[in-house]
Amino acid sequence: MLIQKPRGTEDLYYESAEELSALELVLRSIVSQYNYHEIRTPIFEGKDLFTRTVGEETDIVSKEMFELLDKKEREFVLRPEGTVPTIRSIIENKLYGKYEMPLKFFYIGSMFRYERPQHGRLRQFNQFGVEVVGAKTYLLDVETILLAYNILKAVGLNNLTLKLNCLTTGVNKEKYINDLKEFLSGQDLCADCQTRIKKNPLRVLDCKIDNAKFDKAPKIYEYLTEQEAKYFNNIQKVLTKLEVSFELDHKLVRGLDYYTALVFEINFSDDHEKDLTLIGGGRYDNLIHELDNSLDYPAVGFGMGLERLLLALKNNNLKISEEDYLDAYIICLSDHARYFASSLMLMLRTSGFKVDTDYLERGVKAQFKSIERLNAHNAIIIGDEELKKNVVKIKNQKTGKEQEVKFEKIINVLGKEK
Ligand code: HAM
Repeated sequence: MLIQKPRGTEDLYYESAEELSALELVLRSIVSQYNYHEIRTPIFEGKDLFTRTVGEETDIVSKEMFELLDKKEREFVLRPEGTVPTIRSIIENKLYGKYEMPLKFFYIGSMFRYERPQHGRLRQFNQFGVEVVGAKTYLLDVETILLAYNILKAVGLNNLTLKLNCLTTGVNKEKYINDLKEFLSGQDLCADCQTRIKKNPLRVLDCKIDNAKFDKAPKIYEYLTEQEAKYFNNIQKVLTKLEVSFELDHKLVRGLDYYTALVFEINFSDDHEKDLTLIGGGRYDNLIHELDNSLDYPAVGFGMGLERLLLALKNNNLKISEEDYLDAYIICLSDHARYFASSLMLMLRTSGFKVDTDYLERGVKAQFKSIERLNAHNAIIIGDEELKKNVVKIKNQKTGKEQEVKFEKIINVLGKEK
């Protein structure tokens, strides 16, 4: 039997698992300032849900879904993203009637995409996302962008590029698509784009192979209705006022079909990374209506890849998790001492100290090595001599100060030497 994890997945342990947990804590604390609430949806959903909403011609639906058949041959997929499940849950649980509007949700969880694994691209990855449902004002679009931006700033990242575009719907979209098609007809396109141009021409701009050819393509944000243009301008005005710099990118269409207006991405670049997309999002005002035509709630949100964020942090020697340490490591010099140590540890842990001891019955030298490896701030040394006198020795590893401490004073002294 081959003992190996599936391609494109990761085992996280010790530092890597702790970095991820620490990042989750930071995210939870920031979103609570913005008054978001958590939503947890199943890891698998009906396949149809994504085909109808993310779009059949998108890469996610056409080639990247992990598909499952249950015993009754019903089709499910491992969720490739978090927006659609959130909306499904809002509709199914009628959350719009139960809670303050707009609904402000966040989620953190595993998403699955059958992509070719490469740097920053996994088949199972962790995504953090927010979705604000039930209000349409450019101020919310700005708040969403600011939240995204501030998260990246809060963890210490610089070299960020915020890219904005605005899609249009209705007649203007038709006009744009016609002009785009005309422009594309003069281009030598890859095989995938030949199909895309017929079924969903906007997706052509998403092509990674031919992207540079579309620099001179018609710009969708020049096709907006007066109202849409005003909305998009307002977003830009507020961002400028708040000194958040951005670039307009007419080729930014995002890999999902549900967006209707603002779309944005935040990319990170440095000596190791070029244009690593950490965050992507936008406004999707028709998704709820498309799934349930008795409902009409506009929405905006974004998703962020946690592994990508951690990659960017690592390249910059930035850490989120605390340095690992113990308040004390107990060194036992006899069997009696080991017996005593287990009740001492229980008492110390109950009092809030981080402590551990040796379970391998090793000599003193090896136990002192563990103190260094585990970054224990104090050594508590217990031998038969100490037990006879009802004392332990406490050695502060930083100052070197060593003292004999009566049993009943251990908590007190350790509190001072912490
Ligand atoms: P997305 O751009 O497909 O958008 O994904 C958002 C982020 O998830 C990406 O910017 C990237 O950081 C991360 N990501 C995506 N695929 C992978 C992968 N294979 N490996 C590692 N990280 C990955 C969405 O998913 C939308 N639901 C975002 C959204 C929310 N729009 C509105 N609300």
